[in-house]
Amino acid sequence: MSMPYRYLGRSGLKVSALSFGSWVTFDHQMDFKPAQEAMSAAFEAGCNFFDNAEAYANGKAETIMGRALSALDWGRDEYVVSTKIFWGGQGPNQRGLSRKHVIEGVDAARKRFGLDHLDLVFCHRPDLHTPIEETVRAMNHVIDRGWAFYWGTSEWSADQIREAWRVADRLGLIGPLMEQPQYHMFHRERVEKEYAALVADKGLGMTVWSPLASGLLTGKYNDGVPEGSRLSLPQYDWLRESILNDPSFPDKIAKVQKLTEVAEDLGGTMAQLALAWAARHPRVSTVITGASRTEQVVENMAAIDLLDKLTPEVLAKIEGILGNGPQPDTDFRDG
Ligand SMILES: NC(=O)c1ccc[n+]([C@@H]2O[C@H](COP(=O)([O-])OP(=O)(O)OC[C@H]3O[C@@H](n4cnc5c(N)ncnc54)[C@H](OP(=O)(O)O)[C@@H]3O)[C@@H](O)[C@H]2O)c1
Repeated sequence: MSMPYRYLGRSGLKVSALSFGSWVTFDHQMDFKPAQEAMSAAFEAGCNFFDNAEAYANGKAETIMGRALSALDWGRDEYVVSTKIFWGGQGPNQRGLSRKHVIEGVDAARKRFGLDHLDLVFCHRPDLHTPIEETVRAMNHVIDRGWAFYWGTSEWSADQIREAWRVADRLGLIGPLMEQPQYHMFHRERVEKEYAALVADKGLGMTVWSPLASGLLTGKYNDGVPEGSRLSLPQYDWLRESILNDPSFPDKIAKVQKLTEVAEDLGGTMAQLALAWAARHPRVSTVITGASRTEQVVENMAAIDLLDKLTPEVLAKIEGILGNGPQPDTDFRDG
């Protein structure tokens, strides 16, 4: 199957169902050459969306991606690139979503990329100290200057996104087009339940992250932490602790073992099954994959071949193993 392209929410922009991001990997595990090679492999497989953030490797991930884009010499209209603004540095005005940091942050990001404009800019987290109106106006300024085409949020609650839309509608401004939430087999609530009404009402697009739960859903942690894997990296002690010390970790490993059999029955790998499963959800515009090596990119992009094989019977089998789908709201009327 060739890579499907989906409209990003209620917009005219199309993104590949599988995309590619740079968190952890760029700079820490991949310098310029391997990063360029990985991006090239993704692009050849049909990936047209590359995700980044000012926080990734303190801006170096954007610099590496920008250099790779320049070397690869694709047409600017052949790819979509994003950044996320929130953590731009340690200073009091280098973080958050104030008008000052949003505008200075996006300007600095596009310079690190070496691009006149980015396509998407996300607010990387909600900022509890900045009025949403200030952020909505700042993002509209960024778009009016031609520095980005669309803006969105990452890990904002449905209420916060609705508030941004209320402000934008009142002021005749552009509201957030897309959200970037975590979504994988062990983390489902927001995409499958919380955002459902927003997607229907506002046409929110969904660019979902960590589809392999940082590698857990490849099976690579079934028997410990392999040397060189993400959870072995000293800079990411906090991530290793949060995953390995989670009381449900043994249960998750047991589920991965059962899911691996389902993947093999379909002729795929565990990683491919997890990626295709995330991409199958109708509210997901694109699944942002991550990889520390080009071989992983090749394997991951081929997950698209499993999409057609996720029949209702197969999905029911997966659901039987996971047993963690969000419950619908109780209908007290007929109870
Ligand atoms: N908005 C946000 O707050 C946010 C947060 C996190 C991520 N993101 C975005 O989402 C992107 C993807 O997130 P993620 O990197 O956490 O995704 P992920 O799919 O959960 O984890 C990717 C990691 O798993 C391992 N892996 C990937 N494919 C593999 C394969 N086929 N076989 C074995 N191991 C494999 C690699 O790590 P090792 O080889 O090192 O083990 C790789 O770096 C990020 O790059 C970023 O753009 C956004």
